[in-house]
Amino acid sequence: MINVSVLGYGTVGSGVVEIIRENAELITKRAGEEIRVKSVLDLRDFEGDPVQEILVHDFNEIVNDDEVQIVVETMGGLHPAYEFVKASLESGKSVCTSNKALVADFGPELLEIAEKNHVNFLFEASVGGGIPIIRPLKISLAPDEILEISGILNGTTNYILTEMTNNGSAFDDVLKDAQAKGYAEADPTADVEGHDACRKIAILTSLAYGKQLDFGDIYTEGITKVTDRDVAYAKKLSAKIKIFGTSKKAGDKVSAMVAPVFVYPENPLYNVDGVFNAILVKGNMVGDVMFYGQGAGKLATASAVVSDVIEEAKHVDVNMKTLWSHEKLDLLPNDEVKNMFFVRLRGGRAENEAKVKEVFGKADEVDAGFSDEYAFVLPEMTEGEFSKAAEKLGNVINRFRIAL
Ligand code: HSE
Repeated sequence: MINVSVLGYGTVGSGVVEIIRENAELITKRAGEEIRVKSVLDLRDFEGDPVQEILVHDFNEIVNDDEVQIVVETMGGLHPAYEFVKASLESGKSVCTSNKALVADFGPELLEIAEKNHVNFLFEASVGGGIPIIRPLKISLAPDEILEISGILNGTTNYILTEMTNNGSAFDDVLKDAQAKGYAEADPTADVEGHDACRKIAILTSLAYGKQLDFGDIYTEGITKVTDRDVAYAKKLSAKIKIFGTSKKAGDKVSAMVAPVFVYPENPLYNVDGVFNAILVKGNMVGDVMFYGQGAGKLATASAVVSDVIEEAKHVDVNMKTLWSHEKLDLLPNDEVKNMFFVRLRGGRAENEAKVKEVFGKADEVDAGFSDEYAFVLPEMTEGEFSKAAEKLGNVINRFRIAL
């Protein structure tokens, strides 16, 4: 029998308890041993819920319980999650978490503590909710050098951009509607400003290259400035606007960015719509592989947590080495990252055509029927070159990278 304690009986934590109960028989078969939720930590009481019988309000009851081998952390936030996870690992318990903030900030340290204590720190649910991506990166793709990771890593923004594309609606209207339907948080800042996707691409990139990429070092743009006109231009080019978290191998360095991009139908991520997430990974041997599914939600995310619990149950007292050191990943300065750009300028063709030719040389005009502006697609250039040229023009309304 493997005893599990769950920290936090919120959406994901209650999902973990439900899955372990509902699928008990097959989980036992697959884990090779019975898995039981022995205790659940929460400050609240849940009268009428059977969890009340195993509910504790003091973490010490869990960390000092020698029968508990696995701690599931589904509290979210950094503190006290960090302190509880650290203490659990130091007391010889493995930890399975869904907490991306914790993993992005403290991943290497917690992995090191786990290794020292012959236990494991597992975090399948921290990126992409129910989508298996952490274990595939660590195990299935281990023979490959990772050349690129591109992901639609946030359901809220993908839903908003999909609605804007399908209905021609404005960003603010779709956001309000999404909040009313409960698809978007009351405070949607982390989603719409790209911070959530940024932490996720930081975790994936750190794992892919075995070194720490701090999310604060990643150039990040959200979707708040995307307008219905931008969407109309994308349509004119048979493209869609999506927000990507991307990292790419660039010689000895790695580039990383979160930004809304134009995506063409040839890209497998083009068809990922609504609240769905997907991650496209390019390995130097395997080629392109794509992982698609629900990036959030109670049972989807809890399923990923329980997959870690089962994995851990098969490796009690064995540290499954995860390559992710404290050493900083060598990030390519953003100015040196190459991209193709779509650009919109204030003023019509007559005002801009000659100037654009002079500044950029080649530019392919895109006419979406707006005579008060001039739009075009540029060949690949560095971010630095583009910024300088855009400054020289002085009348850029908006610009998007083009995902290739
Ligand atoms: N707010 C996130 C999303 C949930 O919209 O995808 C999972 O991190």
